[in-house]
Amino acid sequence: MTRNIKSCFTRCLTKGLCAALALGLLAGCGARRTQDPRTLRIGVAVYLQSDTFISTLVQELERQAQEREQTQNIKINLNVVDGHGSQITQTEQIDRFIALDYDVLCVNIVDRTSAALLIDKAKEADIPLIFFNREPVAEDIQRWDSVYYVGARAEQSGLLQGQILLDCWLDDRERADKNGDGVLQYVMLEGEPGHQDAMLRTEYAVRTLLDAGVEVEKLASNTANWDRAQASARVTQWVEEFGDSIEAVISNNDDMALGAIDVFRQMGMDGETMPLVVGVDATAPALEAVRTGELKGTVRNDAQGIAQSMLDLSLTLADGQDPAETMELTDGQYIWRPYEQVTLKDLEPQEAAA
Ligand code: BGC
Ligand code: CA
Repeated sequence: MTRNIKSCFTRCLTKGLCAALALGLLAGCGARRTQDPRTLRIGVAVYLQSDTFISTLVQELERQAQEREQTQNIKINLNVVDGHGSQITQTEQIDRFIALDYDVLCVNIVDRTSAALLIDKAKEADIPLIFFNREPVAEDIQRWDSVYYVGARAEQSGLLQGQILLDCWLDDRERADKNGDGVLQYVMLEGEPGHQDAMLRTEYAVRTLLDAGVEVEKLASNTANWDRAQASARVTQWVEEFGDSIEAVISNNDDMALGAIDVFRQMGMDGETMPLVVGVDATAPALEAVRTGELKGTVRNDAQGIAQSMLDLSLTLADGQDPAETMELTDGQYIWRPYEQVTLKDLEPQEAAA
């Protein structure tokens, strides 16, 4: 309790509002002075910094924080730490942020089932907590009203991915249905087990095809943990087992889709001859593969928008304001950024305009 009062007080002071008020009083009314920028300390804990999408997101956060420093009278101290895939490590990192009395905690949680513990720690210290990209279950988010989630709806990415495959199937049946049996034979590269994006993308991509009346046959499905090399290993094994029967590779993210493409390239195939490959994220190398025709499409996972919402929310919370008053929140605690389909057709008009 004593710590709570003390930390509240120090935070209030660092917020600059009280400090500015006190200065104003001391200096007398009407005196004009330039205010020193206040410093906002944000602790960002990521599950694995070498993850392609997460590293893009971190770069965006850093870029946008710098941009805001230049345009707003504020200093943003982003301290990014890497959990290296260990919840024990990440929990220690968060303990440290709390001990140092950071203003806001942003957590890309390693193990989604550990959220309750972290929420209770943040609540005890009265430091707002923003989860991102790896979504805790709703019951955990509801443990405290200063907990938020910023991300994108997993179902939507699966749906858009299924839609890309459906368009390929409808536009050029001969190309898609290699063996001409009217059924789409596919293999599924799944992300990390237990991740909301892996489970829901897998489910919704297939459901979209089925709902549109496409008959599908799953030849194989397995996790490659979002990882390019692991995906190559899986696909190599599947090619040995199923050969030409594989007509589509549905991948939960772009890195794994690229891992599949690596294998087909090595076999001497090109965008015309390899199975239809689809991913999610719209990373830079994936967009390149969309241009060459090897990747039939991807779904933009809006790193820029997620970073922007995280910073907006952090600044609002550090100011002691209620985000519900200025930001668009769902159920009071969620900020959703939309996914977007990216195929060659979607890229061409943009590039023509550039
Ligand atoms: C991305 C993956 C990434 C994962 C990390 C997903 O939203 O699509 O590429 O590995 O998040 O949590
Ligand atoms: Ca077929």
